[in-house]
This record gives sequence, C-alpha cells and structure tokens, in this order.
Amino acid sequence: MSPVASPPMPTTEDVYAALRGVIDPELGSDVVDLGMVTHVDIADGTVEVGIALTIAECPMRGQIDAETRRKVGALPGVETVEVVTTAMTKRQRSELMETARLRARERAEPTRVPTSTRVLAIASGKGGVGKSTTSVNLAVGIADLGFRVGILDADIWGFSIPRMLGTTDRIEAGEDKLMIPVEAQGLQVVSTGLITDDEGTALMWRGLMLSKALEQFLTQVKWADDLDYLVIDMPPGTGDIQMALSRLLPQAEMVVVTTPQQTAQKVAVRVADMARRSHMPIVGVVENMSSFVCDHGQTYELFGSGGGEQLAEQLAVPLVGQIPLDTSLVSGGDEGTPAARHVADGPAGVAYRTLAAELVRLVPPLEDETCVGRMAKLLEAM
Ligand SMILES: Nc1ncnc2c1ncn2[C@@H]1O[C@H](COP(=O)(O)OP(=O)(O)O)[C@@H](O)[C@H]1O
Ligand SMILES: [Mg+2]
Repeated sequence: MSPVASPPMPTTEDVYAALRGVIDPELGSDVVDLGMVTHVDIADGTVEVGIALTIAECPMRGQIDAETRRKVGALPGVETVEVVTTAMTKRQRSELMETARLRARERAEPTRVPTSTRVLAIASGKGGVGKSTTSVNLAVGIADLGFRVGILDADIWGFSIPRMLGTTDRIEAGEDKLMIPVEAQGLQVVSTGLITDDEGTALMWRGLMLSKALEQFLTQVKWADDLDYLVIDMPPGTGDIQMALSRLLPQAEMVVVTTPQQTAQKVAVRVADMARRSHMPIVGVVENMSSFVCDHGQTYELFGSGGGEQLAEQLAVPLVGQIPLDTSLVSGGDEGTPAARHVADGPAGVAYRTLAAELVRLVPPLEDETCVGRMAKLLEAM
C-alpha cells in the first residue's frame, strides 16, 4: 500500500459540524444548537474546544467530554483534542433552558429517533460483503448484552432484514398514524418488506426517492422511548442516502464492512470518504469473510488477507472485528435464526458477540436521566 499523504486540518466549520453530533440527551439537542460551545481553536493537529456546562458538577460532564473528543478526533488531520470546560453563569443557564424549551416545541420533526439512542450505520461500498448479515447479528448481539435495540432496513428495495429475522409480521399504524415497529427476536424492526402490500401503500413507496423513503422511516416511526441502539442496514452505494442520514440524524456513526481482498477495500474507501464529507464519524472497520477454519482446525484465507487492517489503518480507526466464513451465517440468514444467538458458540457467533461488546465499549449507551433532564422535561410539558 502506498503511503497516504496526511490530510489537511479541518476548518472551524468542519469542527462545528462534528460538534453537532455531540448531543446532550437530557436537553434533547446538540451542544452547538444549545450554545454550549464557547470557542474552537485549531493549530498543528490540535483542536481545542471550549464547552460551557450548565453547572460545574454537571452529571453529563464526562459524557460530553468523551463525546467531544471522539467526534472531533474522528475528523481527518486531528491528532489531539483538548476540551476546556467552564460553568455557565446563571444568566447563560436560563438562556440555555429557554433554547432547550424552544427546540422541544419546534422539534415535532425532524426525526422520532430518541436523542438518547445511539445510531450505528452499517455501510460499505458494494453489495454482498455482508452488511445485512452484520447488521442483524450485531443487533442481536447488542440486545443479548441487555440493551433495547432497533434495526432499520434502509435498503429500501433490496431489503433482507425480515427474512434474516424470520418475521412476516406487518408494520401497523398506531395513534397519530405513526408506524409501530414489528418485534422480532427481541428487536424493534422496520423494513419496506414489512409494509402492507395494498396498492396505495405500495405505489406511495415506489414513488419515493431512496432518501425520501429513509426520511419517511425516520420521521414516521414510533420507536420505543428507551431504545439504546438503532442499527441501520445501509444500502450499497455512496450517494444521497448517506447524506440524508447525516442531515436527519447528526448522532449517526458509521461502521464500515469490508472483505479481506483489495478491490472491496477500494470501494470501502469511497464510503469512508463519503462519511467524512457528511461528518459522520467512523467507529471502526469490520472485516467479514476473513478466513475459514475447517473441521480439522486448518485455517484458509479464501478471500485474501489484511484488507480490513489496511483499511482501518488508512482511516486511522480501529479494526473492530473479524468475522470468519461460517455456513451458520448463511443458514441463519435463510431461516431467520441469527448465528450470534442461535449458534452462539460457533466461529461466527463468537466473533459477532465479541464485536457487539467491542462496539458497546467504544460507543457506550447514553445516560439521560439526571436532574437537569427532568427539569427540561418539566419545561417541555409546560
Ligand atoms: N462471514 C460469512 N460467512 C459465510 N457467508 C456469509 C458471511 N457473511 C455473509 N455471508 C453470506 O453472503 C451473502 C451476502 O451477505 P449480505 O449480508 O446479504 O451482504 P450485503 O448486505 O452486504 O449485500 C449472504 O448469502 C450471506 O449469508
Ligand atoms: Mg444487504
């Protein structure tokens, strides 16, 4: 692999865009919108971000600090992130509460995904690398760690999630005409494959552009309030839909799936580039179809090796998992029995459960129940 020229430093604007992904879940908005960012200084690979907290002993302090480091640190060219926190004055605090209250009132839209939900978009540059397999097994793996997990099939026409979870249930319209996700394998599931096939509905969906369809799902679905993670199975390609996702859900983060071979890796680089342009941080790379271990214990690298590691290195993100070739993934996908749960001790089962734990470690669930949060909710109700 040829050495990669170090990328230019981000602009102040880029840093602010990344900071829009730092959500204060108790106030229900991002730190930029809430006026909590006091300054951004960029010099020689270091970015200093000033954050004004509501109170010095703010219970969210650690979380906001960690999120700021992670999201700004994910920008190309950034080596160090310094976070300088200050406490707001009484006057600033009341201004912030006013903003939070306004936002709560305005925000019937853009989405109904709770602000405390972590969003992991599973992406790659081409089909067939195992995005859907990864989405399903990861979602099940995270759920089995005790979290409330939803899965959104954003592959509008190439949907495969319903089959992989073994559900033929239909999405119902609840109160306010909002769509209620189907429950399958303990997950909340939304997919075009679960929408009633009456003519009118089918016509409406066919008429929507992909990005509009995604928008429809994000604004018209009533997800559980306590959803900890939402896993999104992205369609192949690097187009509109990624842009739409980052615009609608600034808290979305990307997990890039690749195979060990070079060509697939090149395509994935394009996706990653896309992620950067849309300010979606990349949590890490998952290498799928890494190797095959036969019954005699011999390891075969059928699709080459090293692709995942190289890509991760190139993107300066961790290689978060390597999933071996395993037929239990194929049969599990066909029969609606994800290997991560149903063949949990098999090679792929173990690899996916390890991946789930690693992603939960890197992107821990957001805490949102503290005193300020309750205060904001009270104001919201007024
Ligand atoms: N690690 C693996 N071992 C064996 N088969 C796999 C593995 N990952 C995916 N597959 C199979 O490869 C095919 C494509 O996977 P899929 O998840 O549908 O890819 P994508 O969503 O990226 O198009 C499916 O038949 C799936 O069962
Ligand atoms: Mg797929």
